[in-house]
Amino acid sequence: MRRIPVEYLIPGLKVGYPVMDGQGRILINAGTILTSVMINRLKKLKYSWLYIYDGKDDFTEAFVISEMVRRRALNVVNNLYQDILQERYFAIKVANYREQLKEIAAEMLAELLDKKGFLLDLYDIRNLDDYTYFHSVNVALLSMATALKAGFKHDEIINLGISGLLHDIGKTQVPWTILNKPGKLSPEEMEIIRLHPEKGGEIVSRYLNFGSSVVQGVIQHHERLDGSGYLQGLSGDKIHKFAKIIMVADVYDAMTSKRVYRDPIDPKEVYEFVLALGGGEFDLNTVKSFASSIAVYPVGAKVLLNNGFEGIVTGTPVGFPDRPVIRVIADNGRPVEPYYLSLAEEYKLMVTKIVLYPEVANESIVQILTQR
Ligand SMILES: [Fe+2]
Repeated sequence: MRRIPVEYLIPGLKVGYPVMDGQGRILINAGTILTSVMINRLKKLKYSWLYIYDGKDDFTEAFVISEMVRRRALNVVNNLYQDILQERYFAIKVANYREQLKEIAAEMLAELLDKKGFLLDLYDIRNLDDYTYFHSVNVALLSMATALKAGFKHDEIINLGISGLLHDIGKTQVPWTILNKPGKLSPEEMEIIRLHPEKGGEIVSRYLNFGSSVVQGVIQHHERLDGSGYLQGLSGDKIHKFAKIIMVADVYDAMTSKRVYRDPIDPKEVYEFVLALGGGEFDLNTVKSFASSIAVYPVGAKVLLNNGFEGIVTGTPVGFPDRPVIRVIADNGRPVEPYYLSLAEEYKLMVTKIVLYPEVANESIVQILTQR
């Protein structure tokens, strides 16, 4: 399979992995042949990427979290947001979100524990309007993987997951027009946005009855270790350990995804940016645990190596975040019979470039899908 930007899709391509929306509903199933109507709809809904079948089904195993669990998590978060947005506070008890959140966080942990061979690679085939729901689930997963690496106890990791799922719930109290403003925010608008951690903390304690750790993770997720964050400008160990993790996961996921005001940033650059903040804005040990739990290069992405090879990332083994396994497809521009190469075992080889959007245009999509 290949990750292909939506603007380069053409009718006739076969979808490799289901496309879901922010409620966890399947919009297009795997195996579907794309039509121009579907492509236009995906563009309208502002999806950035799709997985396209290219004759090889070689990385589904690398998705640490199953499609089912991800869909369920999106569904719970989305329903809760909708009930709060529409001020159906009575529904929070009726639907028993408290239990639903606990269950889904436990399921997410079970999957992280189950897939020990691969580093966390986020299924980021998501649309722009549903950003908050996808982001919440990703932040929870990234936080939980980090805590697992850092040796947290399992019940703590579940609570951290809940805190991650809810970290931005206070955004339900911020007008949509401010949240989705493409341009620069005015100081007044900034003030309003900056209230979301506190408002979120209120919702989490008052309506969902979660304890202090879950609440602190939400309230403090925009604090920074050097005191430069908000709301309170806390620093160092005054910041709760959940917030120390959630802030890293939050920044990483926000930077790697498309936003109303910019395109996604190269995942390798984001990875290095986050590493560089360790010991400054971020807690150093947290950043170390984070950096060793996630895959730098997304599966399905095309990468170039220092010896001129081109390949498709098929998974990243634990212990080697920036040394994925790749399916080699070309050698200095000449197509080759595909074979697999583990960069964890080839120390002289390294990825020099990840091919995101513009370069794909240079490559014929038909060629991508037939030859390799
Ligand atoms: Fe936030």
